[in-house]
Amino acid sequence: MKLLFVDCCVSQRGADSRTKRLAEAFLEAWQAARPDAEVETVGQEVLLALRPFTPDALNERDALAAAGRFDAPVFRLARQFREAEEIVVAAPFWDLSFPAALRLYIEYISANGLCYHYDNSGCHGDCRARRLVYLTSGGDVEREDSVGVLYWRQLAAMFGISRFDYVFAAGLDALPDQAPALLDAAQELVRRLAEETV
Ligand SMILES: Cc1cc2nc3c(=O)[nH]c(=O)nc-3n(C[C@H](O)[C@H](O)[C@H](O)COP(=O)(O)O)c2cc1C
Repeated sequence: MKLLFVDCCVSQRGADSRTKRLAEAFLEAWQAARPDAEVETVGQEVLLALRPFTPDALNERDALAAAGRFDAPVFRLARQFREAEEIVVAAPFWDLSFPAALRLYIEYISANGLCYHYDNSGCHGDCRARRLVYLTSGGDVEREDSVGVLYWRQLAAMFGISRFDYVFAAGLDALPDQAPALLDAAQELVRRLAEETV
């Protein structure tokens, strides 16, 4: 069993990042429930070094895909994402969604012909994971149509990942007196999700 942890917990709080605390609660509980399982991490250094695709880079990627050259370096993150059996993505709530580095990661994993494909009945996901969990923390209270959550829910469906769960530790800046209790409650929810067999 292999879990892919996409660590986009970019934070001025460093080790005290509230988003990172959610991720750590998930990983600890997940590993405790599966002592023999493996966690592979896509670190912030990888995410923050991603370059946006230019037209030339897209042409090159399309040419590689047309030639079936999915072993090329540009597909490395997509191959890793496709093979993971469970995926957890953690990112703070920034500017109504998440940091730009995570948007770039999405461009790299959205490799047509590898993680999904089209036929005349539409788009079909080709990823192996049974579940994708999205963890986020935000300053404001949670809105019903939070863009980051909706986005990852739809991505999971596009990639053929049938189960999507999320935890949004919300209101942490709007309600500073309640922030520790809100974060504790979110961590508890995260632990319960991590312990579930999927
Ligand atoms: C660049 C930036 C943008 C933010 N944008 C939002 C926002 O749009 N809505 C919101 O509710 N909080 C926003 N916040 C507050 C963070 O979501 C909140 O403090 C979060 O808990 C930070 O997580 P961290 O402790 O892991 O850094 C923003 C914070 C930063 C640094």
